[in-house]
Amino acid sequence: MKRTKYCGLVSEEDLDKEVVLCGWVHRVRNHGGVVFLDLRDREGIVQVVVEELHSPEAYETADKLSAEDVICVKGKVRRRPPGTENPKLRTGQLEVFAERIELLNTSELLPFPVEEETAVSEEIKLRYRYIDLRRETMKRNILFRHKAYQIIRDVFVKNGFIEVETPLLTKSTPEGARDFLVPSRLHPGKFYALPQSPQLFKQILMIAGLDRYFQIAKCLRDEDLRADRQPEFTQIDFEMSFVEEEDVMGITEELIRTLFKELLGIEVKTPFDRVSYFECMERYGTDKPDRRFGLELVNVEDVFKNTDFKVFKEAIESGGTVKAINFNAGELSRSQIEELTRLVQSWGAKGLAWIRVEEGKLTSPIVKFLREEEIKALLERTKAKPGNTIFFSAGKKELVYKVLSNLRLHLAKSFNLAKDGFDFLWVVDFPLLEWDDEEGRFVSLHHPFTSPREEDIPKLIQALQTQDIEEKKRLVHSVRARAYDLVINGYEVGGGSIRIHRRDLQEKIFKLLDLSEVEVEEKFGFLLKALSYGAPPHGGLAIGLDRLLAIMLGLDSIRDVIAFPKTQKGTCPLTGAPDYVSPKQLKDVHIKTLEL
Ligand code: AMO
Ligand code: AMP
Repeated sequence: MKRTKYCGLVSEEDLDKEVVLCGWVHRVRNHGGVVFLDLRDREGIVQVVVEELHSPEAYETADKLSAEDVICVKGKVRRRPPGTENPKLRTGQLEVFAERIELLNTSELLPFPVEEETAVSEEIKLRYRYIDLRRETMKRNILFRHKAYQIIRDVFVKNGFIEVETPLLTKSTPEGARDFLVPSRLHPGKFYALPQSPQLFKQILMIAGLDRYFQIAKCLRDEDLRADRQPEFTQIDFEMSFVEEEDVMGITEELIRTLFKELLGIEVKTPFDRVSYFECMERYGTDKPDRRFGLELVNVEDVFKNTDFKVFKEAIESGGTVKAINFNAGELSRSQIEELTRLVQSWGAKGLAWIRVEEGKLTSPIVKFLREEEIKALLERTKAKPGNTIFFSAGKKELVYKVLSNLRLHLAKSFNLAKDGFDFLWVVDFPLLEWDDEEGRFVSLHHPFTSPREEDIPKLIQALQTQDIEEKKRLVHSVRARAYDLVINGYEVGGGSIRIHRRDLQEKIFKLLDLSEVEVEEKFGFLLKALSYGAPPHGGLAIGLDRLLAIMLGLDSIRDVIAFPKTQKGTCPLTGAPDYVSPKQLKDVHIKTLEL
């Protein structure tokens, strides 16, 4: 018997015709003399009716079937008797009256049912991923991703981009994570690095004159995993020559608009808002703000500049700050506030000062330390009304931002404050470099190939000339990058920049990053050389495809849009990776492992 149709696609046009279907037994019910089968394949489910009197052989086979056996059925399509239709199925008006059934394979009792009512742990789901992928939601996600690939290719091809594959066995490209390494058999002691991104290759393709490149690229980063991070993930990666920021952002907006329209039927308004890094930090405490709700940070440093309250006074005197959030979405109890205090302490805060505004009075452990005029100015500044609670964080700026941005997200989640829908924005005007206390040097906010603003270059040159570290910091911190991040609903979905295309400027940046000439030559000599053979001005961007799809589908974890993801611990329960290898394999690649 040869398949003629997908189960899920049986339709009115097949009425009274004979079809041959193949698939999995989704459900089987024997009503004595008649067996009802729900037969499932990629496209959906159709009901098959097997009558003992009509086809005794088929009945005998059907009677022994159990869930997930694989069969082939030949039969005639007919309309279901009135009252037995199933409006939930696409094929729910029809059924197939079986003539013949062939059992192609049997299935053992499943570790979990294909029907989705049963919750299953991540570990088990991934160990039996082939069963998990039979589930409707996962199948939908994988199909959604497949459609996205087509749309992405379409948009880029229409805009004159050329698809190029870049290597997986390569040299380290710094994107701020650790490299995965692959030992070389032919070159004892040497290693390939798996690419954290195709960054340097795409720049080199511009130098090669390809003008516009794109790739749906696998990237590998050995970093700590979270719900929105995988060790291997996919970028929609692209690069363009002779362009400025707006050109790259424009193509990105066209891509996002087309994906939302064609996959979700949602009209996205472009251009997206452009918000400066500085404004994001001030208002939300983060460079990837979720703006679907309020609870913005309020700067109250000046309100308390002469305060006697020790906590605020010490923060301000030691160069830190005091900021507040006015929670105006419901009254909070003492125990709720205590729980929030414990939470912020787990993020590193010393405490969480608060004031509850009530009709005609304030409840708070700190008002007794505050002056009348401070309270007045505070209420004005925060616009707090009876029923609201004002929270404070005091201390080092970075910590205050971290605490209040996390608190803001936590409150919004707990009280379900985010508006439905999608909020898109570009974060722009990032500083190029920031001082890293731990490393005792400047580090790139994006990557070291990002161009500074033309008008800020003199400050970089001055910074290189001064020996005074404080002056150097002041100069360097005022240099803005030609970088842009795409943020959707509080997630960093993409990032990119206009690149440095002149060798001398790239060398200056490496110097500011405290890389020695030897190091630069070893790591990036090939790039510097390429830059000196006629590199065009160029820029690009990469979108985290997994993140984008998860957001579009409203999923909490990017694992649900990846066919074979890793667990939070970076393992693959299906295959057992990572795993030990044989002593012979280790010897081949000249590796000796340490006793563990
Ligand atoms: P960046 O490092 O910002 O830029 O990466 C681009 C986007 O990739 C996604 N992403 C991840 N998704 C899942 N798991 C991860 N571990 C992970 N890490 C990053 C994010 C991020 O915005 N070469 C530059 C781009 C450029 O400048 O053109 C780059 O890789 O959504
Ligand atoms: P203390 O003087 O330590 O008892 O703190 C008084 C109040 O200020 C308490 O409610 C603390 O939770 C809060 N608090 C302490 N440190 C900070 C801080 N760095 N930022 C905000 N509130 C704090």
